[in-house]
Amino acid sequence: MQSTQKNIKNNDLLLEVNNLNVFFNTTDGLIKAVNNINLSINKGECLGVVGESGSGKTQTFFSITGLLSNNGYCKGSAIFKGFDLISSSKKERMKYLGKSIGFIFQDPMTSLTPHMKIGDQLSEISIFHDNLTKKESLKRALEVLDIVKLPKSRNLITSYPHELSGGMKQRIMIAISLMCSPELIIADEPTTALDVTTQSEILNIFNDLKNQLGISIILISHNIGVIAETSDNIIVMKDGSIVENGSTYNVLTNPQDKYTKLLLSCIPPWLDV
Ligand SMILES: Nc1ncnc2c1ncn2[C@@H]1O[C@H](COP(=O)(O)OP(=O)(O)O)[C@@H](O)[C@H]1O
Ligand SMILES: [Mg+2]
Repeated sequence: MQSTQKNIKNNDLLLEVNNLNVFFNTTDGLIKAVNNINLSINKGECLGVVGESGSGKTQTFFSITGLLSNNGYCKGSAIFKGFDLISSSKKERMKYLGKSIGFIFQDPMTSLTPHMKIGDQLSEISIFHDNLTKKESLKRALEVLDIVKLPKSRNLITSYPHELSGGMKQRIMIAISLMCSPELIIADEPTTALDVTTQSEILNIFNDLKNQLGISIILISHNIGVIAETSDNIIVMKDGSIVENGSTYNVLTNPQDKYTKLLLSCIPPWLDV
């Protein structure tokens, strides 16, 4: 996948990760959680990342975005628009994170700050990154609520997270990531905590972000059925390594690795992927 993308559409390349390794110091010694990952994503594409729990999906993208816990460190490079996110200082990296790169964390139920109004949680990010005034930022908040198909109402702006359903909270998380018009959104298990109908509504929003706004999406899930419809390319991870990658069509119709075949056998036959 990587070499094909490079050869055909090199100037569309948005993020290229090379030889990424993630380590943790533990009381049992040094653990290698991510093993020599290479991946790339072009502008306006969706890359699906699938693998069972503990396979290294989250730590791969935490390492790229500087979010590893204190006992972790990484080696390798992650070039975002020519800028290496890994070798850069935290200050330099912060220019991109939350602005050009949005991260949607695994649990929408706990990712929002409970005591802050939704409007404040939306607006603080563009006040910080784009130097907007509170008024300008709230105007932008109403625009992004529209994009995630939530009512542009004053009620919602003044609500607290506990007043919202799980699906609404996840839409708010997506809306927060959109505030500064990102070029890449990394969504970690964005539908795992949601019921099936809400899952498909959220996946439709990611599709719209990609197709209508040209935003690149990295969609992480333990469930290959979830990423199959939205992703252009898929990587399959197991035990910290990529065991298979390729176009979604090829991976789904002609899987090479026995672990990929096992994941595919878990998709119900009536699901048209
Ligand atoms: N702070 C940590 N210290 C030690 N090991 C960790 C730490 N964080 C994650 N790991 C280990 O890294 C591996 C990959 O975890 P993760 O990327 O979170 O998996 P997932 O694919 O479920 O997202 C797991 O074995 C996990 O236990
Ligand atoms: Mg995870």
